[in-house]
Amino acid sequence: MSLPASTPELARGLKGVVLDTTETSFIDGEAGKLLYRGYNIHDLAERSTFEEVVYLLLYGRLPTRRELEELDGALRRSRPIPQEVMDVIRLVQGAHPMDVLRTAVSALAAFDPETTDTSEEATLRKAVRLTAQVPTIVAAHHRIRTGREPVPPNPDLNHAANFLYMLHGEVPDEEAARAIDVDFVLHAEHGSNASAFAARVTVSTGADLHAAIVSALGTLKGPLHGGAAEAVMRMVQEIGEPERVDDYIQRMLAEGRRIMGMGHRVYKVEDPRARHMRQKARILGEKLGQPKWYRILERIVEVTAPLRARGISLNVDFFAGAVYYLLGIPEDLFIPMFAIGRMPGWCAQVLEQMRNNILIRPLLHYTGPMDLEYVPLEERG
Ligand code: COA
Repeated sequence: MSLPASTPELARGLKGVVLDTTETSFIDGEAGKLLYRGYNIHDLAERSTFEEVVYLLLYGRLPTRRELEELDGALRRSRPIPQEVMDVIRLVQGAHPMDVLRTAVSALAAFDPETTDTSEEATLRKAVRLTAQVPTIVAAHHRIRTGREPVPPNPDLNHAANFLYMLHGEVPDEEAARAIDVDFVLHAEHGSNASAFAARVTVSTGADLHAAIVSALGTLKGPLHGGAAEAVMRMVQEIGEPERVDDYIQRMLAEGRRIMGMGHRVYKVEDPRARHMRQKARILGEKLGQPKWYRILERIVEVTAPLRARGISLNVDFFAGAVYYLLGIPEDLFIPMFAIGRMPGWCAQVLEQMRNNILIRPLLHYTGPMDLEYVPLEERG
């Protein structure tokens, strides 16, 4: 039996591989810096809105007031989903919300008038439609699976407030709506992370935006990517009281287990997005008379201090779960929340890939046996 050729240098997990150029976002993992189209995430989180960030990511610059109003109007008008897609959601209502979302976006491809048109103009229009429709799917599914009727979108509310309205059936207060608006801004774009990469791979074959978003949604589902906020909140609830943090975390570390919401492939210092969610978690916890969750999280930060020296710091998901929890969002909707926020980033990455396309197709180094003799089934015993 001949052996495979000697091992070439592998880039497992594509760690450190620079895939292409981008003008969408800049990430400096050593400095903890994140820019969308040149604008600092701190300015955007504190001073912008999700709608403005959607414009910035899709069109490459900040909008004028009129441009923003037009985009906002288009988003509000595009929120309803076809009855047939609502029926699909009813059929698959028992599945994980990410599976339902992925299935419903796939079904939307059958009803969008421009699904197969991969021109830039059509893709931009679809990006706006899909960004508007995704929250409707997530909220409608949650209503249906809990035995209630979906709440139709409210065109008087912005993207974040309307999502909470469709989910809970009540107009949220300003603080709650702003917390979710900031959350969506923070999640809107993040370079060639696994889901955006999956979206790029998909359109690199000439496939369309709906196909790319389905790929991205499938990829986001995993706990190493989108699932961390859910895992953090589960851990926090299991800990239960701030006094129990030390024992629990020491035990986890001794067993070599990972602390969810910490560590990042790119950030080696604190993820710049974490501070905004930290602030929202503290304020909401105090306001709603539930400061305990925030206190547990802060104690976890203190106890895990030794990880910092190894470049394992807080990521955006560490405090996000507490914000969602305090706003009555069930744990299994945390990843769909991430998806709602990430829609413009995925679309911007897709547009960038389409503009300067090359088929993405890496190689694998074969390490299995070679030239085996085929034995007919009847002779194999
Ligand atoms: N807690 C404890 N140790 C961690 C850790 C965490 N959250 N994240 C990484 N490490 C350790 C690993 O155990 C590994 O240690 P070793 O070298 O002794 O084996 C080392 O750090 C490198 O980890 P690796 O998985 O190779 O790095 P990566 O760049 O692939 O990791 C993540 C990135 C996100 C997958 C990883 O940090 C992780 O699993 N974090 C928790 C999940 C999470 O919060 N994901 C959301 C990301 S936004």
